[in-house]
Amino acid sequence: MGHRKAAPLVLKGLQRLEYRGYDSAGMALYQDQVVSLYKTQGKVADLAALANFKDANQSIGMGHTRWATHGVPSDANAHPHSSNSGELTLIHNGIIENYEALKKLLVGKGYVFHSDTDTEVLVNLIEEVQKSHQYQLGKAVQVALSQVVGAYAIVVFDTKKTDELVVAKLGSPLAIGMGDQEYFIASDASPFIEYTNKAVYLEDHQLAIIKRDRAPKILSIATDTFTDYYIQELELSLDAIEKGGYKHFMLKEIYEQPRAIKDTYRGRLLAEDGLIKMAGLEEHLDKFLNAKRIIIVACGTSWHAGLVAEYILEDLVRIPVEVEYASEFKYRNPIISNQDVVIAISQSGETADTLAAIKLAKEKGAFVFGVCNVVGSTISRVSHAGAYTHAGPEIGVASTKAFTSQITVLSLIALRIAKAKESISVAQYKEILNELELIPQKVEIALLANQRILEIAHTYKGNHNCLYLGRGVNFPVALEGALKLKEISYIHAEGYPAAEMKHGPIALIDENMPVIVVAINKGHYEKTVSNIQEIKSRKGKIIAIVTEGDTTVQELADHVIEVPETLECLSPLLTTIPLQLLSYHIAVLLNKNVDQPRNLAKSVTVE
Ligand code: G6P
Repeated sequence: MGHRKAAPLVLKGLQRLEYRGYDSAGMALYQDQVVSLYKTQGKVADLAALANFKDANQSIGMGHTRWATHGVPSDANAHPHSSNSGELTLIHNGIIENYEALKKLLVGKGYVFHSDTDTEVLVNLIEEVQKSHQYQLGKAVQVALSQVVGAYAIVVFDTKKTDELVVAKLGSPLAIGMGDQEYFIASDASPFIEYTNKAVYLEDHQLAIIKRDRAPKILSIATDTFTDYYIQELELSLDAIEKGGYKHFMLKEIYEQPRAIKDTYRGRLLAEDGLIKMAGLEEHLDKFLNAKRIIIVACGTSWHAGLVAEYILEDLVRIPVEVEYASEFKYRNPIISNQDVVIAISQSGETADTLAAIKLAKEKGAFVFGVCNVVGSTISRVSHAGAYTHAGPEIGVASTKAFTSQITVLSLIALRIAKAKESISVAQYKEILNELELIPQKVEIALLANQRILEIAHTYKGNHNCLYLGRGVNFPVALEGALKLKEISYIHAEGYPAAEMKHGPIALIDENMPVIVVAINKGHYEKTVSNIQEIKSRKGKIIAIVTEGDTTVQELADHVIEVPETLECLSPLLTTIPLQLLSYHIAVLLNKNVDQPRNLAKSVTVE
């Protein structure tokens, strides 16, 4: 809302947000009490093709790119949704859990529904409240939301209120970009960063009334009082959210890993002085030192980083660690006490499952430490303390640099606690510290295998199954490798502990099964070599990730990809690289949409 033409701005912004969901898209433009609505199944590019938006002069607009929850991807289910009178238009991120009961109520009052969405119920509920009490829009939204169970970030406009937008948030993120007599509202700051670097992040249970000619007013929905707000100066740069010459964001982000890892330890790892300085950890070190247990909660790739951390933390710190899928944690009545420390890992800092797990952990008295990438994200704010990963914006849906940055931060945390606890020797501490500092340049070397990996991708792109094996700290790397392949190539892949293969998956192995084995010269190397022998005896095709100069595996494997020598605990930072590249190349060769794989979303803000 402001003085610019809304349509091109909204379209560009939606493209930046498309990583959050991309099965349908829509836009509403608003001027002189007339709403023009455009909706389509498909991507933002399909929406852009619906009309000649360049000539659209409206200066108020709203757009949405959807990841279906209620109702299949279709034109009708795409947002924005209008109320029955056509006066209210609304976009929504989240889920209205009690939508069925509300819908029944509204149908009883004569409302008609044109979509299967929970969102259309919400816009009509607001209309019903507005009509029955003669409320202004803001008040109607406030009262309607008090009847809603679920999560939402919404924007509503009303044809009767020409210069006003009402926005509200619970659970799902919402940022207000503060320009000069212009305001931008989005799920994150990327759509408006070229117009303003000033943003207000709405808190849960807050509602804002935004008018072109005055500062937004923010209201607490529960207490019905206006509150002050804090305007953040953002450091996000435009370069960081553009492809910069790479064909895909995923490839750019794979290649950014040396920088991302370095940025993550910069200022924290002072190898020369033998020091680790992390403000968020330092202030609460006693919580970790006195912890009876560390519980790690996360989803997807972040969960894999948690598994890597489990090996490192237990080994170095000698505190029992449990790693939980955040989505399971909440629903199994876990035993948690105030002697537990919960580490929540999340790239986006917005994953609804992880947020729900944090909420429960806090209720039970645990200390929550967040490891997030997105600065100012919800998880970073609701945690008691935390550390950022500094990977920079990750746009590709398949997570890459966030994973290695998470392992970097978690390694620093483990080392700092181990030092304070004296659970490792000074020599070991220094050795790991010095080696961590060398990792970015070793990642550069690992990336040099790109061409070779492309050739291997050519050989295996037609396979329908794939097995990934690893031991110890490289078992989660196998899981992550398999996840990457599944996510972007839609090839069925399974990750397994190498030794566990003989208890089941070995039955799958024949001359058509590619088996990717992480077989670096550390940990249980000889045992992994035996596992490779077992695969070879059954004619499986072996692609091995080995340490530079390895000759033993070279003789057994069909293909080897070398990574530089490093300590076992830091090896996932290197062994992950070829697996990311392999998935990337296979997906490109199969002509898949690498950055926006089907059915997925980068940040899943529904439970
Ligand atoms: C989604 C993404 C995954 C990601 C997971 C957790 O499923 O597609 O790539 O690992 O969410 O996201 P988070 O932002 O919490 O790390």
